[in-house]
Amino acid sequence: MTTTPRYYLWNIGCQMNQADAERLGEALEARGYAATREPSEATLLILNTCVVRQSAEDKVLGRLSSLRPLACDDGSRQLLVMGCFVDQAADLEVHYPYVDRFFAPSDIQGVLAHVDAWAGRNGEAVSATAKPARVNEMVPISYGCDHRCTYCIVTERRGPQRSRPIAEIVAEAEDLVARGAREVTLLGQNVDAYGTDWADGPYLADLLEAVHALPDLWRIRFLTSHPREMTPRIIEAVARLPKVCPSWELPVQSGDDAVLRRMGRGYTVAHFRELVGRIRTATPESGLNTDVIVGFCGETEAEFYNTLELVRELRFDMVHIAAYSAREGTPAAGWPDDVPPEEKERRRALLEETQTQIATEINARLLGETVPILVEGRQRGRWRGRTRTNKLVFFESDDNWRGKLARVRITWTGPWSMIGDVAGEGEPEG
Ligand code: SAM
Ligand code: F3S
Repeated sequence: MTTTPRYYLWNIGCQMNQADAERLGEALEARGYAATREPSEATLLILNTCVVRQSAEDKVLGRLSSLRPLACDDGSRQLLVMGCFVDQAADLEVHYPYVDRFFAPSDIQGVLAHVDAWAGRNGEAVSATAKPARVNEMVPISYGCDHRCTYCIVTERRGPQRSRPIAEIVAEAEDLVARGAREVTLLGQNVDAYGTDWADGPYLADLLEAVHALPDLWRIRFLTSHPREMTPRIIEAVARLPKVCPSWELPVQSGDDAVLRRMGRGYTVAHFRELVGRIRTATPESGLNTDVIVGFCGETEAEFYNTLELVRELRFDMVHIAAYSAREGTPAAGWPDDVPPEEKERRRALLEETQTQIATEINARLLGETVPILVEGRQRGRWRGRTRTNKLVFFESDDNWRGKLARVRITWTGPWSMIGDVAGEGEPEG
């Protein structure tokens, strides 16, 4: 009796990592592997890693040491590590001799080639599988980043920006739609800089047009945008193309010009404020999320309060808040990390509390409204979907709503999600 070979794939980090892990899992399943959550059952152990903050790196180190006893010298099992933990300049092979191979972030092809060589067979094309797609799928459109934010390790680990050709992205989205996807999220570290690594485009607005033309695709999202790369053309395209959801992910990082300068962000608070104004004028029914780092090197109480004030003023739908974490190899790692941990935590909690209040108020405005929800699946006995502005909505129904548009009347709202009653099926936008 032959048993199905198993793979254990552990993933942590950003949406790009999540998309890579899903792709890799799918390709392994096309090769006959089945997923397992139990590492000891697997012959392939793969870690897709993140080191953007120390807390993520600590989890990677913890996972590596817990898997170490399973590593085999005789080649009967493979322990592979990919992602931002993989620093080409560090002697990882020397420090982690029990790891069979290290791969750069997003190097799925490298992992598959290794697996094929190890398993002694030729790789089938990934598209050979006709597995159903998720309702909402992620498609990477560019890799790497050309910015040099002084706190960030990503540029060093992921390298300069490389945009994927439009035709390749459209073909991938088309395949996902043919397999049941109704929404795609276009991913990049700076998704709005798409195409700027070529002499003359095409750019994100052109890509949005091209993906928009796909029949049976209902919704398009994109993240994350860099405030410096956002162009009037992109804003105009989002406002004009009905399938493109007016849902913006625009990290501000700080509401203080001196901190922004030290972070090397390349814009001022005034520029950011003006950009938000243009976005909200062009797409009044939009959702706007941002990222903030608190406790960056030298951040004074007054500088932090400028961030708090900006968050109060601009009323984001969501703020992803991180306490600054010094990363070796970045310029800021050479500066004093002089905001004590408990003070970082105080600032983080204060900002969080402020934002929770704002999100509660924003979401409460939807109470009693009927909104179109693209239903992604079930969670704890209820259907789960999202509004065009990317708000989570739950509802109960005995019918099968997966992959459908539901019109849902909102009956309860909280800061992070809402509940409603289904009022009927909706029409795709566009
Ligand atoms: N491209 C995006 C932008 O324009 O900011 C962000 C990409 S970055 C990899 C994702 C998030 O991680 C950032 O928005 C930032 O808030 C957080 N981050 C990056 N480096 C960090 C550090 N050293 N400490 C704390 N948070 C960090
Ligand atoms: Fe990092 Fe700044 Fe790029 S946060 S990913 S260096 S835009």
